[in-house]
Order: sequence, then C-alpha cells, then structure tokens
Amino acid sequence: MPVDAARLGIGVFDSGMGGLTVLSALMRRLPHEDMLYLGDTARLPYGTKSPRTVAKYALQCAATLAERRIKLLVIACNTATASALGDLEAGCPGLPIVGVIGPGAQAACRATKNNKIAVIATESTINNGAYQKAIHRLKPEAAVVAQACSLLVPMAEEGWMDGSIVEAVARRYLAPVFGNLSDSAAGLDPADSGGAYPDCLVLGCTHFPPFTGVFRKILGSRVHIVDSAETTAEAVAEALAGLKLLNPQNNAGQTRFMTTDDEGRFARIGEFFLGRPLSAGQVELVDL
Ligand code: DGL
Repeated sequence: MPVDAARLGIGVFDSGMGGLTVLSALMRRLPHEDMLYLGDTARLPYGTKSPRTVAKYALQCAATLAERRIKLLVIACNTATASALGDLEAGCPGLPIVGVIGPGAQAACRATKNNKIAVIATESTINNGAYQKAIHRLKPEAAVVAQACSLLVPMAEEGWMDGSIVEAVARRYLAPVFGNLSDSAAGLDPADSGGAYPDCLVLGCTHFPPFTGVFRKILGSRVHIVDSAETTAEAVAEALAGLKLLNPQNNAGQTRFMTTDDEGRFARIGEFFLGRPLSAGQVELVDL
C-alpha cells in the first residue's frame, strides 16, 4: 500500500441493495471514511447460482472496486462470502478483505443462551455450510438449524418489506425451524419450551434486515435476531486500526454508489436499505 493509503476509500459490494444495510452500519461506525459501494443488480440473485458463477461475479466486482483504488474490501454479501472469500483473497493479494459470515457467526455465538441457533440465508449460503462451519469453529456444542429463504431476496429488491404476503412467506420459511407458529401472537419462548427452539435467528443474508419487524411479529421478542452489519462494521474498524489505515481526515467521509443496472431503481429501493435519502444522480452505472 502507498504512503497515502489511509486516505483511500473502503470498497463494498453485494449482488444488489442488501449490502446497503452493511454500508449503513459502516457509515455510522466509521464516519470519516470514504466508501464506494457496488450493487451488481443486473445479475442478482447470486443466492440461487452455483458457487463457480458467484465466485466469477465476485472477482469482477472486486476488480471494478480495486480499479478505483480502495484500501480494504468488504464483501457485504453472505453468498459471495461463502462461495468466493478464498478466491478473492487469492485474486486480490495485499488487499485486506472482510466478509460478513465470520462477524455474523460471532454475534450469534455471543447472543445464544441455549446453544440453538437458526440461520436463514440464500440457498447457496445454506448449501455451502459456511455459517454452520463458522459457528462450530467458535462454539462446537451449538446446534445449528439452517433454512434457505430464497424468495425473500426478490421481495426485498421489490421494496416489499412488510404486509400480509411478506408475513405469509416468512411464516412458511420459519415454521420448520421454530415448530408450530400458530400460537405465536404471544411470541415464542425458547426457555419455556424446554429449549426446543433456537433462541437466536441469524439473518444470514444482507437482504433480510428490512424484514426484522416481520420476523419479530412472528417470533415475538424472546428470540434474539442477529444482523451481521454492526459486527462487520466493528471488524472493519478493528482491521483498519490494526493496519494503521484509519482515514486521518476530520471531514465527513464521502460515499459513492455504483450499480450494474438502472440507477433510478437502485436509488428508489436502495433508500429503504440504506435508511437515508439516495438520488439517481448519486449512482453511477457501470459495466463489469
Ligand atoms: N445479499 C446477498 C447475501 O447476503 C444475496 C442475495 C442474492 O443475490 O441472492 O447473501
């Protein structure tokens, strides 16, 4: 890294807008850092594609961000972290890389009291077993129930974050994990049920945090919902501090956005994920 490396931005990518939930946590945790976000919306979803295809796309996203000069890469996509972390490390020598699965697993292991952890993610992330492995590395005694929830990704990209259809779909996915949800008006109590239910639900896809209200409504308040965004932001802050790459500027960091499809749509829907206004003029269309 050159001498002025600390003044470079942080590159962040996802298959679409889900990674904006991670970007939002990064902007809060590291307000003086410049960020460059890439959402590969033209090729979304990644979660139903083969690991080889996801790795190819992830390498192209990383190359596009690296061309603009970045000091650290955040894979704000669980699917790409599961399928491509090794390829990215090999393909981008010298560039520090932080994925979302390690921080998510860490947060889940800290949160669970009964050592039963549910993970919901894309089909690819679940089949890859990356969460199961990451959790067992930290807590070998934990029981992990994994459930693919692929339909939630296009619903989130459509801007459907609540309502009866979303609730019905979420309920259908959660039922095999949490048992009979019909009496869930009062909320599940993993302790009262003799520890039968997981007491912790990991949102193992960056598209899922906007559904937290729906999950909460279905599961009640006693199941801990883990979103890896905050822990990932913390891991990035630690990595930058350890590498002496924290940006010394006192100004607020600048954030730029890139998408591989329709800037207007990216801005319109992206606002929900980012939690702050976004206009099409702030988004650049790129070809990978
Ligand atoms: N947001 C991505 C993840 O965290 C995947 C969504 C998709 O492209 O299927 O896994």
